[in-house]
Amino acid sequence: MLNIALPKGRLGEKVYGMFENAGYECPEIRESNRKLIFENAQKQVRYFWVKPSDVSIYVERGAADIGVAGKDILLEYAPDVYELLDLNVGRCHMAVAGKKDFYDDGHRVLKVATKFTNIASDYYARTGRDIDIITLNGSIELAPILGLSDVIVDIVETGSTLRENDLEVKEKILPISARLIANKASFKFKSAEIEKITEAMREMTRD
Ligand code: PRP
Repeated sequence: MLNIALPKGRLGEKVYGMFENAGYECPEIRESNRKLIFENAQKQVRYFWVKPSDVSIYVERGAADIGVAGKDILLEYAPDVYELLDLNVGRCHMAVAGKKDFYDDGHRVLKVATKFTNIASDYYARTGRDIDIITLNGSIELAPILGLSDVIVDIVETGSTLRENDLEVKEKILPISARLIANKASFKFKSAEIEKITEAMREMTRD
């Protein structure tokens, strides 16, 4: 049985659709309920819904053999897992954003609010800019509006959260998409199953 951690939410549903089309369906998942684990004994797969930022923890520790995690999470937490495939979904950008009238003249320490402290620190270390990181857990866009920070480092997908709060992208840091990841031991001991499912998923990314 292959244990698969899916990120709960819109992206997870899209990704489950890819597994389904790849021949690893588990019809019970489509029934709306609050169950977290679904199994198809015939296909030898067991899916579970996990908070998106927790998928790599399940996979790293072997509670899941494979899973789907955003590149943002992989860069931020650097879990000890194999990255098997770019699934080409959940495309967005990590970006620096701020108020339209904010300009960084570089004269004082830049206050940066973010959930992604490692990505933000690495980015500004590369540019040699001194920053003060303010770690938040959500609604990051509020920080520059209320003067808590000068800018934010966050995910921008459609850009509507920024637009609706009168903020704008200042710099794009890197592109993000969902990745298929595997536990290192599972990859060794269940290599045939994992390679088979990876190839089937690779076909789905060609659509
Ligand atoms: C993410 C991100 C932005 C928003 C960007 O938030 O932090 O707020 O999506 O998407 P958009 O460009 O399409 O508007 P999420 O919904 O994950 O919630 P959060 O506030 O907990 O970060």
